[in-house]
Amino acid sequence: MSLLVSTWRTVGVFFILLMQSVSATDCTCELTSAEKPFPKGELLSIETAAVECNQKFQSAKRTEEAALRLGLHQRLLQLQGDVSALEREDDGGLYGAVSLRIIELELAEILQLLDKLNRTHLMHRNLSTDVNATMHEVRAELKQLEKYDHMQIAQKLEENKRLQRNLAQCQEELQATPPPPTPTPGNCPQGHLVNVEGPRTYTITQYGTSYTYGAWGRDPRPAPGKESWYWLTPLTSSNAFANYVRQYTSLSALIAGVAPKDFSIASGNPTTNTIQGPNMVMYGDALYYGCYNNPSVCRFNLTSRAVTTAPLPPNSGINNKVPFCHLEACYVYTDLDLLTDESAVWVVSTSAENYGNVIISEVEPGDTPRLRPPMKTSLHKRTATNTFMVCGVLYATRYVDKETEEIFYSFDTQSGLERYNLSIRFRKMQTNIQSLNYSPLDHKLYVFSDAYAITYDVIFE
Ligand SMILES: *[C@@H]1O[C@H](CO)[C@@H](O)[C@H](O)[C@H]1NC(C)=O
Ligand SMILES: *[C@@H]1O[C@H](CO)[C@@H](O)[C@H](O)[C@H]1NC(C)=O
Ligand SMILES: *[C@@H]1O[C@H](CO)[C@@H](O)[C@H](O)[C@H]1NC(C)=O
Ligand SMILES: *[C@@H]1O[C@H](CO)[C@@H](O)[C@H](O)[C@H]1NC(C)=O
Ligand SMILES: *[C@@H]1O[C@H](CO)[C@@H](O)[C@H](O)[C@H]1NC(C)=O
Repeated sequence: MSLLVSTWRTVGVFFILLMQSVSATDCTCELTSAEKPFPKGELLSIETAAVECNQKFQSAKRTEEAALRLGLHQRLLQLQGDVSALEREDDGGLYGAVSLRIIELELAEILQLLDKLNRTHLMHRNLSTDVNATMHEVRAELKQLEKYDHMQIAQKLEENKRLQRNLAQCQEELQATPPPPTPTPGNCPQGHLVNVEGPRTYTITQYGTSYTYGAWGRDPRPAPGKESWYWLTPLTSSNAFANYVRQYTSLSALIAGVAPKDFSIASGNPTTNTIQGPNMVMYGDALYYGCYNNPSVCRFNLTSRAVTTAPLPPNSGINNKVPFCHLEACYVYTDLDLLTDESAVWVVSTSAENYGNVIISEVEPGDTPRLRPPMKTSLHKRTATNTFMVCGVLYATRYVDKETEEIFYSFDTQSGLERYNLSIRFRKMQTNIQSLNYSPLDHKLYVFSDAYAITYDVIFE
């Protein structure tokens, strides 16, 4: 323990916080970093080594490895981009904790790819010793960097929190009558939803950038043995339709694209009972989604491979009539949004009776699923980009700009209370969010955004 503490001291970042009341209306913080900057040089040399390694592999022209190499190449490009971004964020020796976190995740993913590449090579018994040596070096260096990164981030996040607290305190002191804190909505035992932090995971999938629409996540009520599994379903036809759900045994398997298991709903696409629209969820080892050209919720049972349907309320919008939108565009075939929370599956839709505003129904489980009578909200569907549900409270997001999405609306299904003033913003990695769902298992938002699979932490207080 004491060894750990002393290691932290030597490697750690030391901040000196100077709080000054310069004038009656100012709060300032002065930051001094006593730490050497992030080892960019090391990162670059690893990059060069990995690129060289990659080039050597290319001469080998093995088709089985081509896909892997492409993945690795993409990761390196992404890493390069993010290192540049990190440099831009550089404010005198301190780097954005978010960027560092992303780079940490990328390094882990590159490690996995290298591992897989190595396994494929060993199978071929054709690995040149030269490449093998380089890979060993890269591996060792990445491990080092990973360690370094962990400490930096943990410590910086702590420091940032402390600074924010102090700044808030200072500001409070200056304000003669501080406004009373507004309670945030929520019925969760773990508290109120107050923020969304991340990204935590940010990865391209096995499909690369082939499909910009899709969804992924975890089943909150997994079948025995599938507790750590993840699912992923890109819309493989016209950004609108799909006919199978893919599962992986772990998050790293999904990231590396290893050993996927496909569950086919129909051989054709699109056809009766196949998937229409990206906003689907897995629950109780079944996929809930909008049925192709049919005003119903479909449930595909992965065990029996059977599809059962629950009709939507009369005059519900389907077939791209009432999608999610922002000022510049709409997300095609997003008429329905399936959601999971702690207790149930829900469906967000619209009805003519409610003037195209959102209605929300709970899906009753059973041999044949049914929808409970819908609750009406005043939320106009086209002003929202997506919705999710936490502990019986519906939240809606809207598009702010290319980098920012905002949770602006909530509807409490217990009290019927609506709010339009939430203003919880989070940073996007890509411009568009095609699907978004809350997982009660790990309190994360699972986002499919322009072909990338992303997670965020939901923060309760
Ligand atoms: C191994 O490499 C040699 C040339 O170095 C090549 O002729 C051979 O086809 C390779 N074997 C496999 C299984 O890739
Ligand atoms: C790769 O290199 C390591 C040590 O650098 C060695 O132990 C291993 O046998 C090598 N593998 C192959 C396939 O040459
Ligand atoms: C490749 O895999 C073998 C066996 O799993 C391992 O001994 C070796 O260290 C690996 N090489 C690299 C560069 O990871
Ligand atoms: C799926 O099918 C299996 C086998 O027929 C059944 O035991 C299970 O209850 C079904 N699941 C759902 C969610 O209907
Ligand atoms: C937000 O809206 C709710 C419901 O309309 C209201 O009770 C609350 O005071 C509002 N909060 C702020 C900060 O305006």
